[in-house]
Amino acid sequence: MQKNTPLILLAGLTPAQFMKRHWQKKPLLIRQAIPGMKPLIDRSALLDMVESEEVESRHIVRKGEKWTLKKGPISRKSLPSLKTPDWTVLIQGVDLHNDAVHALLQQFRFVPDARLDDLMISYATEGGGVGPHFDSYDVFLLQAHGQRKWRIGRQKKFELQEGVPLKILKAFKPEAEFVLNPGDMLYLPPGYAHDGTAVGECMTYSIGFKVPRSAELASELLMGLSEEMTENAGSSLDVIYQDPSQTAAIKDAGIPAALQKFASQAVAKALKDPQILNCLLGETLTEPKPSVWFDPPDQDDLSAFAWPCGVRLDRRTKMLFDAKHIFVNGESFRAAGRDAKLLQKLANEKYLTAKEASGLSEAAAQLMKAWWEEGWWHPSDLIENDVT
Ligand code: SIN
Ligand code: CO
Repeated sequence: MQKNTPLILLAGLTPAQFMKRHWQKKPLLIRQAIPGMKPLIDRSALLDMVESEEVESRHIVRKGEKWTLKKGPISRKSLPSLKTPDWTVLIQGVDLHNDAVHALLQQFRFVPDARLDDLMISYATEGGGVGPHFDSYDVFLLQAHGQRKWRIGRQKKFELQEGVPLKILKAFKPEAEFVLNPGDMLYLPPGYAHDGTAVGECMTYSIGFKVPRSAELASELLMGLSEEMTENAGSSLDVIYQDPSQTAAIKDAGIPAALQKFASQAVAKALKDPQILNCLLGETLTEPKPSVWFDPPDQDDLSAFAWPCGVRLDRRTKMLFDAKHIFVNGESFRAAGRDAKLLQKLANEKYLTAKEASGLSEAAAQLMKAWWEEGWWHPSDLIENDVT
């Protein structure tokens, strides 16, 4: 994928043009973004996913103005018949469970990985949907099967209906309406209200993005920082408060200003090192979702393991980097020189050839072995020319 190559996926815009004109700014309707689009998972396999503990799913039914929501796992048999109108099932993170869906998500890597979240699939019968709402993240709504009517509008009022289990706008004022056919796609920036209603049986794929919120992110980073500080407690870095110039006090319950200053300096010092915060950020951004479990290699594979070999990241692995670190599945590692270059390539391309892997240092090779034992990557006999 090149920044300046026009993409059919983006209605002939280049990724650079799309990001400049539309991303976080205004909607884009793309007719035939994926020509010949066919569902990547059939209806039966998709609906079976509501039973899995490892899949986040929701079942939503609308009866007139009344909405009901059930969170999975639920029994597939508890779903209404396919002839019953007005219900939908939403399956989150399907890219974690299916290679073809994971491959489709990769087409959206013109947005940094740190922002790309997941691919959700909705199945709906005639009239099904989740009601008029807005999302706090950017979304691409790709029609995979059947038709869906979308009504969209910029809203002034974001008040939500009360007493409903979903976030539904009280006063939705649509400004435009389109019917999407298989392969059509609608991009919406955050906060843009939308209401999608199935026209007959329909499947829609939503490519969603992560939107860190300042208070939530600060809370997560500060929790990590607190753990770091606990580890430093009692070490040489742990400065002791001293007050040789404290004057005599007589029953004085007031907190000394010097102690207040000491406390704020201690916090400022903890926050001062950008490396710690960058490290914690990378760990947070690559933390697997709670439903994610890796499959470690079995006993036979353990004895047959031979390094160096081609490396292909597991589709569930999250790998990012910054100038000094590599982050994988919630952990951080310092890397420099050739190791950093090769591991950055692995993060970007999601593979290394055996020849490239042989360029890793002994220490990095040991790390790779440990990651393999976790099930974070799989040996693969790729050669450079095989990879597109
Ligand atoms: C759906 O596919 O039914 C809902 C997707 C969305 O509105 O974000
Ligand atoms: Co939405």
